[in-house]
Amino acid sequence: MIASQRLNRFDQLIFSELAQYKYKKIEEGKDIIDLSIGSPDQPPPSFIQQAMIEEITKKDAFQYSLTGLPEFHTAVSQFYQRRYDVDICPETEVLQTMGSQDALMHLPLAFMDEGDIVLLPDPGYTAYEAAFHIVGASIYSMPLLEENGYLPDLDNISPSIAQKAKMMVLNFPGNPVPALSTKSFFEKVVAFAKKYEIIVIHDFAYSELIFDQQKPISFLSIKGAKEVGLECNSLSKSFNMAGSRIGYIVGNKKLLRHFMKLKSNLDYGVFSPIQRAAIQALLKGDTFLEANKNLYEERRNVLVNGLKNIGWDVALPPATMFVWAKIPEGYTSTEFVYQLIDQTGVVVTPGNAFGQYGEGYVRIALVQPLERLQEAIKRIAESHVIPMIKNR
Ligand SMILES: Cc1ncc(COP(=O)(O)O)c(C=O)c1O
Repeated sequence: MIASQRLNRFDQLIFSELAQYKYKKIEEGKDIIDLSIGSPDQPPPSFIQQAMIEEITKKDAFQYSLTGLPEFHTAVSQFYQRRYDVDICPETEVLQTMGSQDALMHLPLAFMDEGDIVLLPDPGYTAYEAAFHIVGASIYSMPLLEENGYLPDLDNISPSIAQKAKMMVLNFPGNPVPALSTKSFFEKVVAFAKKYEIIVIHDFAYSELIFDQQKPISFLSIKGAKEVGLECNSLSKSFNMAGSRIGYIVGNKKLLRHFMKLKSNLDYGVFSPIQRAAIQALLKGDTFLEANKNLYEERRNVLVNGLKNIGWDVALPPATMFVWAKIPEGYTSTEFVYQLIDQTGVVVTPGNAFGQYGEGYVRIALVQPLERLQEAIKRIAESHVIPMIKNR
């Protein structure tokens, strides 16, 4: 009855403690405004739902799908051409996954051995660390610092580490730090990866939530990127399909072939009605993408401007569904989060849950309607949190 040693490598303490505290408050009758979860609160558009409903009644709908349908691969290829100006071969450069989580959790199994070094962003999406812990990799953190525009400083990675590193994970626009990459940074990454023979995995899950008329930059749009890496994406955030698990990896065909060998042993594919609905989304979803982006942009403006007006000067995120907010000095991120819950019922995530460089920040998710965001601002304005911030 003893769990594996491997399980001891996970540290989910902050998240589970926070969730327990939140449920305790709910049980006590407190009205909680939950801005801690990075899951879309809206449904997919009706044309996607309709496609799924129609497909589910078909005779072969419940058979194993095993892999992505050829039409899905073609739809991804067309989507990449149309949205990111990248050529993708549907037959050899696309691999379907059950959301990007499936890709991110399993790619290390295909490419890493115990003790191999991986370069990970800190703060970073928690699944990266978990995935590399499972394979027993050594994690080398690349700090994302405000003074560097939250881009990793590759010059700061010593050649001895770079030589031993086998993989690097990047995420732009990012979670929890909603920063954008630049073309020149990605060019530097490609050169670095070629020099040290590092596999680059770019997590592009928030590719469609980019504001202020800025354009997404796919890692694969950079010359030479396909020689060194892969890009993971999904329909979870772009089309609000988070629960109907579907995503894909695009890029280097040799890497994809290796990964397919592992994947064919892991699962029997995505439910085909989900695949068919996703095809419709990828082919015909541009109008919805615009509306969805506008929804988050409006929420962002309301929350950030509202907080600024009451004295909490948080930075305007250029992308994603997150605000990465600095907290007052003298408090740890965790202490601040508990104070906020106690005084206002607003739940956010402490930045240190995403790595040591997240200390001093909280992540606020824009996953509630405008009225609830306004209510959150009102409660924060009336609490002692603002004097805490002003006195810093
Ligand atoms: C940065 C990032 N990558 C990947 C994922 C996984 O999403 P999915 O598996 O639904 O594509 C998430 C989910 O929150 C995320 O924030």
